[in-house]
Amino acid sequence: MMAKTQQSSLQEYLADEVKIVDRALDEWVPAETVAPESIHRAMRYSLFAGGKRIRPILAIAAARTIGGDTTGIENAACALELIHTYSLIHDDLPALDNDDLRRGRPTCHKVFGEALAVLAGDSLLTLAFEVLSRLPGVAAERRIRLVEELSRAAGTVGGMIAGQVHDIEGERQTPTALLLESIHRAKTGALLRASVRMGAIYAGASAAELAALSQYGEHAGLAFQIVDDVLDVEESSEALGKTAGKDQAQQKITFPAVYGLERSRQMAEDEREAAHAALSVFGDRAARLRQIADFIVKRKA
Ligand code: IPE
Ligand code: IPE
Ligand code: MG
Ligand code: MG
Ligand code: MG
Repeated sequence: MMAKTQQSSLQEYLADEVKIVDRALDEWVPAETVAPESIHRAMRYSLFAGGKRIRPILAIAAARTIGGDTTGIENAACALELIHTYSLIHDDLPALDNDDLRRGRPTCHKVFGEALAVLAGDSLLTLAFEVLSRLPGVAAERRIRLVEELSRAAGTVGGMIAGQVHDIEGERQTPTALLLESIHRAKTGALLRASVRMGAIYAGASAAELAALSQYGEHAGLAFQIVDDVLDVEESSEALGKTAGKDQAQQKITFPAVYGLERSRQMAEDEREAAHAALSVFGDRAARLRQIADFIVKRKA
């Protein structure tokens, strides 16, 4: 009974946060009536297709864990979702994973064509940094720190692009535990870690607080991609809103491919526990971050 109450309150919390993030995104992204209309339609098509918004939600929860002035944190959180959605549009392109289904809809390039899908990704990426540079009420020095954090996490040295390159090139390589971890830490872990760090930076975290939250973000980030790999095997395309069984078909280096399903599940659980342990210094203030780590591991989509 207790567990059920906590679960539903988590669901309500997540739903409320999604609304806050979506409202802010709607304000930052040009309307479909703004010329050139096609690009704004394509950007909005992929952005408002029902993502979980886990990165913005992590940023907001991290900021609230630190306390201090978190007014306007949803704007910084938008930058993370803009980068993430761009990465999904490009990940789905025929040149990368060649996917037809995303967030329960035909992929951006299926609807708008490859040229506009490439440009929609580019536009979301560019807009992310415009948003950070214009954050209302945030001191210039802090805005620059946020820009640095996000650009590095999305970049080619240990960041999202690095991971995507390893992922694509890995299709032709023997899966090893080392390669697997470097792919996952970079392609997904870096942006999740940056989500937590950006929330902390926004709220003025101390160096020690930032270090603790970085640990949490690293473990939660790795757990997230382990579970993404497991769900690709266990769930249906309908449940996921994206093509299931894709990783094996494309001979991707994944946790289930290297360790099997059962061990992968256990490893995600170990990461969840490590994420919790990193939060001990915050006590009750980190209750939401603990719940989000639990959600990351227990989710079905
Ligand atoms: C999917 O991310 C791609 C990965 C980085 C694993 P999400 O599972 O967060 O996708 P959405 O945003 O909810 O659609
Ligand atoms: C994508 O990883 C990570 C990104 C940087 C977009 P996947 O290729 O596993 O993501 P899905 O399963 O297509 O969402
Ligand atoms: Mg991919
Ligand atoms: Mg993919
Ligand atoms: Mg996947």
